[in-house]
Amino acid sequence: MAATGSAVGLGNIWKFPYITGENGGGAFVLIYLLCIFLMGVPIMMAEVMLGRRGRRNPVDSMRYLAEEMGHSQLWRFLGWLGVVAGFFILSYYSVIAGWAISYVFSTGAGTFAGADAELVGQHFDELTKSPLTLIFWHSIFMVITMIVVARGIEDGIEKAVRFLIPALFILMIVMVLYAMTTSGFADGLRFMFAPDFSKITTEGVLKAMGQAFFTLSIGMGAIMVYGAYLPKETSIAQTSFTIAIADTSVAVLAGVAIFPIVFSNGLEAGSGPGLIFVTLPLAFGNMAFGTFFGTLFFILLVFAAWSSSISLIEPAVAWLIENKNFSRIKASITLGLLTWVVGLGTVFSFNEWSYIALFDNTPLQGKTFFDVLDYLTSNIMLPLGGVLMAIFAGWLMKRTACEEELAINETAYLLWHFLVRYVTPVAVMLVFLNAIGVFS
Ligand code: TRP
Repeated sequence: MAATGSAVGLGNIWKFPYITGENGGGAFVLIYLLCIFLMGVPIMMAEVMLGRRGRRNPVDSMRYLAEEMGHSQLWRFLGWLGVVAGFFILSYYSVIAGWAISYVFSTGAGTFAGADAELVGQHFDELTKSPLTLIFWHSIFMVITMIVVARGIEDGIEKAVRFLIPALFILMIVMVLYAMTTSGFADGLRFMFAPDFSKITTEGVLKAMGQAFFTLSIGMGAIMVYGAYLPKETSIAQTSFTIAIADTSVAVLAGVAIFPIVFSNGLEAGSGPGLIFVTLPLAFGNMAFGTFFGTLFFILLVFAAWSSSISLIEPAVAWLIENKNFSRIKASITLGLLTWVVGLGTVFSFNEWSYIALFDNTPLQGKTFFDVLDYLTSNIMLPLGGVLMAIFAGWLMKRTACEEELAINETAYLLWHFLVRYVTPVAVMLVFLNAIGVFS
């Protein structure tokens, strides 16, 4: 449950639709789904397994496992890679979650009742053009995240998630029902599900893979932390599969709710990170009980973001506590402040620093601080981290240890072993090489 709470978040509802829009739709979705099931699920199983056997924060789990299996201490850097990735992801995640908090209030105040695309677009622009407003909401989100982290996690989250995810699910269905009444429904479905491979670039493939890692929360050690708390008798395979299905369903429903609105209103599918904020308010502004559903939706989105954000910073907090003698409170405040400061870079990416002249004539030309951070973490660090976990689990762990942890039948075991051993490392390598243009 807690791991589902980590997986389902802004990645499903905010990021999946907008990058699907930017990357041409159907073909991107198909590659994303393949990555979820062929790489995501087996790697998640590997990550849970490493966590349950390591029983510490990711850095020390890797150190301990490497020692137990007689391998190089360098494996602890895999833990570090994750700690750093989680920290940077949270820095921008918090800013976007801040947008969602602000929409709880604007939707609740009836701002979007009867609104058209222009008004909704204007509202979003006004919000993102004001650094102080963004900093305000970013700060609120950071504070509520760090309060929970400071008090130690588990049971609270599990209770919240148990009702949160089903509620979010039902609300997404309400929104899909609304989408069915719009003129763009067929176009929306076609955009999402009819693959047109001419629209996908080599970089699009990399992004689809990165998104699969991001949305499942794998490759950085967050899932390892949950693995450490997973009872011995719980099935790792079943848990991983269930999380992947729940997570994917939420993302797909979000897409099915959003793209019809895009096409009915003549909006741009590839308009970027603002996509859900310029489409969903239109639905709420024009459906029955829209203010109620809209407010509830943004509240649930904030909760979903919050249960995800905790898992982004917990590995770093746990490391400070276990190695540097920090109290939980001190570790939370220190990391919360640091993350908050780095988050300012994302705040300014949407206004003051929307164009960085320093990047001119480099491959980063035209990118913002937020773009670069997101690109490095989702598309490079997570797949790299995930694949190293797969390699550790598939090549370096003793077979008896794996079998004991996974406790699945022989065929399923062999399939998993084949996927982590060969398929995921080769696939990630090919996607990386492809993205840097080796094959073109
Ligand atoms: N999966 C979350 C989402 O989709 C984000 C997230 C939480 C995450 N923890 C993570 C991503 C760890 C990568 C690694 O919103």
